[in-house]
Amino acid sequence: MVKNKFLIINGPNLNMLGAREPEIYGRDSLKDVQNWTEEKLGLESVSIEWFQSNIEGEIVTKIQLASKDKINAVIINPGAYSHTSVAIYDALKLLNVPIIEVHLSNTHGRESFRSNKITAKASTIIMEGLGKQSYFQAVYSQVLKSDS
Ligand code: DQA
Repeated sequence: MVKNKFLIINGPNLNMLGAREPEIYGRDSLKDVQNWTEEKLGLESVSIEWFQSNIEGEIVTKIQLASKDKINAVIINPGAYSHTSVAIYDALKLLNVPIIEVHLSNTHGRESFRSNKITAKASTIIMEGLGKQSYFQAVYSQVLKSDS
């Protein structure tokens, strides 16, 4: 069976999930979220690369490399870079596959500076407020699409 290939990118401070404002982001670590997502999806049908960095340039380089790869979609939670990074926005514009921007929290119910999302302007789909389900739903939506 040909596997659907996905890249999931997490930006700054998402390596601190579980410890970081658990009332907003939940008590699972990023590794817990990864395990939960992969268990739910079943890895016989998808292959997922998870990448996390606190450094803007590393995320830009990862997206540039992904633009040369054969992948079905890129899922990105840019964290705070969503609100600030023209560099990540420009890199995302290199991609010719769907880009799903996810945010664990509903940023529109929070501080007003979180409502402006520079990177989301490059994305195909935006998902917010689903907590750890976000990554699963983002990948699954693309698996369903490739099945239909
Ligand atoms: C976040 C929302 C951002 O505003 C924040 O800076 C994050 C996490 C989310 O997943 O809800 O780091 O992207």
